[in-house]
Amino acid sequence: TGKVKVSWVCENCGATPGQWWGTCPSCQTPGSVKQFSESEVSRVRGVEVSEALVRSWLPKKPGNLAPQSLAEVNKGRDQSEWRIPLSGHFGMEVASVLGGGLVPGSLVLVGGDPGVGKSTLLLQVAAIIAQGLGYKGPAPVIYVSGEESIEQIANRADRMRITTGNLFLYSSTDIEDILDKIQTLSPQALIVDSIQTVYLRGVTGSAGNIMQVKECTSALLRFAKQTNIPVLLIGHVTKTGDIAGPRVLEHIVDTVLYMEGERYSSYRLLRSVKNRFGSTDELGVFEMSQSGLQAVSNPSEMFLSEHHTDSEVLAGLAIAVIVDGSRAFVIEIQALCVFNSVVSRQVNGVQQSRANMIISVLVKQAGLKLQDHAIFLNVVSGFNLIETAGDLAVAAAICSSFLEFPIPNDVAFIGEIGLGGELLRPTN
Ligand code: TYD
Ligand code: MG
Repeated sequence: TGKVKVSWVCENCGATPGQWWGTCPSCQTPGSVKQFSESEVSRVRGVEVSEALVRSWLPKKPGNLAPQSLAEVNKGRDQSEWRIPLSGHFGMEVASVLGGGLVPGSLVLVGGDPGVGKSTLLLQVAAIIAQGLGYKGPAPVIYVSGEESIEQIANRADRMRITTGNLFLYSSTDIEDILDKIQTLSPQALIVDSIQTVYLRGVTGSAGNIMQVKECTSALLRFAKQTNIPVLLIGHVTKTGDIAGPRVLEHIVDTVLYMEGERYSSYRLLRSVKNRFGSTDELGVFEMSQSGLQAVSNPSEMFLSEHHTDSEVLAGLAIAVIVDGSRAFVIEIQALCVFNSVVSRQVNGVQQSRANMIISVLVKQAGLKLQDHAIFLNVVSGFNLIETAGDLAVAAAICSSFLEFPIPNDVAFIGEIGLGGELLRPTN
């Protein structure tokens, strides 16, 4: 009998678990494992469909189909366009994080918590490129949003006093439709806000599921490579480490930037965590204002609390100087030691394991009786201290609180602490 071969495929993540499961063993989605005939599997998994789809509407360049000698390639390539510079204080700050400018044909992912300012950042970048300052002159840039209507984006642009006529707004969630509509404009850059809201027809599942997110990103990557148009993509990260979040995309895209910031602070950090075209050591510092993001050119004192400028100095505060990217920052560590029968260590902005080590060294090597104390540690302004060069300031803050000895506010600490209580020269 001509029995049709069947497979079990998860409609959410595309896994083929080999049998029916009530909950997909791969992505843990309940009820997503369905039966499909063998011929349908690739359609369900979306792989073939999106390949064919992208191939069919992308411009064909026959020369790309065979190996070419380097000399040939260089002849046809305009080397001066290697990077699209971004001008102005804000633009230069973004460009430095990108490694000197935006590389044509690259796919850049900008990740961060919802509300941190990703849309604001990329709308400003779009405006700079559209104005063509310092580059080829004005050229269209397209900002596609699946999150907001074009009126909402226009409102935002108004607040930021963006007036260029070369910025095109489009509200759509259909990748095929987006790439189709923008081709006639031959833009200089494309922004897609956000990867969680777009979908590819023919790929199973709704926008935001892992299959859609991966396939849409791959489609945008192929688009960028074939047209040489840079694509900037926004991705939300949720606190729970969202399965369809940008983390799974990091290996697909060329460059990954993360935007960080505390809810109650107006400072925003832009960090490159992956860059095929530059170093990942760069850090951009911005301040969110009424009219968008502004570059902070001298960020060294922004992480200090107001106490520090007061004449009266409190015990438990210590200043650390650390290097992040190619910049030095002055940050403030706060410690609170309280005698308590319940010994606990609460840390914010300092690594728990590092804090535990420093406390242990203080107990064992400095003879501080911290055993029966609850210790709270905090880094002001939401800075995350990962440098071991901050050890000494952490230790100083703890000692200051424990001994109730205020540290004069013109003293700063740099130094790594070893297990024997010795001070090590910071490596950075
Ligand atoms: P947004 O860019 O929408 O964040 P994301 O895209 O990462 O979700 O911006 C978030 C916040 O920034 C929003 O709550 C309002 C604030 N904001 C300003 O303070 N000034 C501005 O000029 C703009 C445009 C936004
Ligand atoms: Mg947004």
